[in-house]
Amino acid sequence: MKRSLVTTALPYANGPVHIGHLAGVYVPADIYVRYLRLKKRPVLFVGGSDEHGVPVTITARKEGISVQEVVDRYHYLIKESFERFGISFDIYSRTTSDIHHKFASDFFRKLYDNHKFIQQTTEQFYDEETHEFLTDRNIRGECPHCHTAGAYGDQCEHCGRTLSPDELINPYNAINGNPLTKKATTHWYLPLDQYQPWLEHWILEEHKEWRPNVYGQCKSWLDGGLRPRAVTRDLSWGIPVPVEGAEGKVLYVWFDAPIGYISNTKELCDAQPEKFGKWETWWKDQDTRLIHFIGKDNIVFHCIVFPVMLKAEGSYILPDNVPSNEFLNLEGDKISTSRNWAVWLHEYLDDFPGKQDVLRYVLTANAPETKDNDFTWTDFQARNNNELVAIYGNFINRAMVLTHKYFEGKVPQRGELSEYDRQTISEFIEVKQRIEELLETFRFRDAQKEAMNLARIGNKYLADTEPWKVAKTDMERTATILNLSLQIAANLSIAFEPFLPFSSSKLRDMLALNSLDWEQIGSIDILPVGHQLSEPSLLFEKIDDEAINRQLERLARIKEENKMKQWQAPEQKPLTNIDEFAKMDIRVGKVLECEKVKKSDKLLRFLIDDGKKQRTILSGIAQSYPNPEELVGKQVLFIANFPPRKMMGQESEGMILSAQDADGRLVLTTVSREVRNGVQVG
Ligand code: MF3
Ligand code: ZN
Repeated sequence: MKRSLVTTALPYANGPVHIGHLAGVYVPADIYVRYLRLKKRPVLFVGGSDEHGVPVTITARKEGISVQEVVDRYHYLIKESFERFGISFDIYSRTTSDIHHKFASDFFRKLYDNHKFIQQTTEQFYDEETHEFLTDRNIRGECPHCHTAGAYGDQCEHCGRTLSPDELINPYNAINGNPLTKKATTHWYLPLDQYQPWLEHWILEEHKEWRPNVYGQCKSWLDGGLRPRAVTRDLSWGIPVPVEGAEGKVLYVWFDAPIGYISNTKELCDAQPEKFGKWETWWKDQDTRLIHFIGKDNIVFHCIVFPVMLKAEGSYILPDNVPSNEFLNLEGDKISTSRNWAVWLHEYLDDFPGKQDVLRYVLTANAPETKDNDFTWTDFQARNNNELVAIYGNFINRAMVLTHKYFEGKVPQRGELSEYDRQTISEFIEVKQRIEELLETFRFRDAQKEAMNLARIGNKYLADTEPWKVAKTDMERTATILNLSLQIAANLSIAFEPFLPFSSSKLRDMLALNSLDWEQIGSIDILPVGHQLSEPSLLFEKIDDEAINRQLERLARIKEENKMKQWQAPEQKPLTNIDEFAKMDIRVGKVLECEKVKKSDKLLRFLIDDGKKQRTILSGIAQSYPNPEELVGKQVLFIANFPPRKMMGQESEGMILSAQDADGRLVLTTVSREVRNGVQVG
């Protein structure tokens, strides 16, 4: 039997983890691993934090603390979030560990000694004052296309164009503003191009079973032609390049991080060899299947770069599959750490204590397996209330309560089965095989659907057989119905274990079921007759509107803050003069009437007291003022000497001035104290 080594992308220790991480990588991996364990197949589940790279150094500088403090803070926060969500790692370690540093350094050195790298010297931007080379993101300057100041070395955020630092006009150090010079620097490159034919065969021919999104991305990288990739950087944070004369250089974060999968395995196996065996068995034995769970932005590194590293080293196995998910959006917008547009796991746990399984359930039900998907709080509530509570929970609760009511909480004896009983049994007997097939092929959302169908079958069975009515006349039939229902409940506690481990364990407690044997799924003899059940308690609870509204309000607040932060006042118009201005007759007038123009959803008709007469002005702001009457009595600013024009059959004499708020709604301008109607503004 093949053993499986399951890894999950090492999250950057540069911020907390959010629902996108959980949905895309950690929940599916955990479901898979729990399933393999239930099948009694040897499996090792390895995770950890990615603690190198440039972004953590930027965070540290911003906050005025050391980089180690940054990664410590987030490593422990992330580790705890995963633990609390039941992500059942065998080890969750980190890339700043001594073991990892030594391991990655040795790995590099071996490739270096065997001439697997090419060495290249290029001119790079350099800060003479701080004596450092700068990464693309840390270089800013004027955009060569739209001439906006402050474009980044890799992209102009104003016009969106991709840039290289060489294109920037007057490049400077983004951190201290220093001007930059060019200086020669030497780096080591992994010659991916040399592996192109091998990769083409290995992926395109031998791994046609990979998910279409993964296979497709690999193919397009390969079709584009691979080029050598630098695996070292001029930085002080990271693992020093173990080569003489390479002072001030470290391994590129994407070189050392995947090696973290190996070094973390070693850390675990060295600490508990009796339990986990030798690390080499997991990494070098052909009977091990290596499975990487990742997000789609990591595909090239796991399917091309890391395999080339392993191949170049020569003694390692290669990944068997790389189940990669697309992205999860939040309420229609891309999740973004910098814009705080996310549901953070530690905050979720504060807001919904004990409801880990609800989130696991919803994220799996909406897993972005084949396309980007959306998380919404109303869907979260609906899935909890209409599926977990109304189907699964309701079924369990009825079966438990009725057994306590009629049989003192002991599993009653089954009598003869009715035709309907037999039909029900035949419906769920194949569930096991279907779930297995789906899990083996990484189709977690469909697999969970099957488990839920089993609950549906149970719930329908009770609703149709109505044992609470039958009990009035026929205790033997009641016993049969409840026996079968309890057997289905026991089935559910096993089938849901990979998906909803907390609820499954709670359910097994209720059923006083100590064993957990996957092979029993489909059986109607899991609970022996006379077996004493524990007290019933609710498996899931309804989530009310208030809790959901709190989340929606929080998101609305964040959106508002982001709008304010992002907004830039428009560029000033070319200079004008007092004569030009004097041509405009801007006045104050009082609103006497204000109403919607019939058959128009944009126009409001204002009747204005302009000091001399009453004039009608039409203004396209109806959508911003659903209750136009509220404007009556207000003094507004209007341009009086615009030529009159006809709209929707009415004449408009002038234009009312308004501004736009952050949501695009128009806001009428007015005066800060009452003035005489008809007064000119200037
Ligand atoms: N830290 C990377 C990310 O969050 C993932 C690293 S995966 C590893 O995108 F293989 F490099 F460990
Ligand atoms: Zn630009």
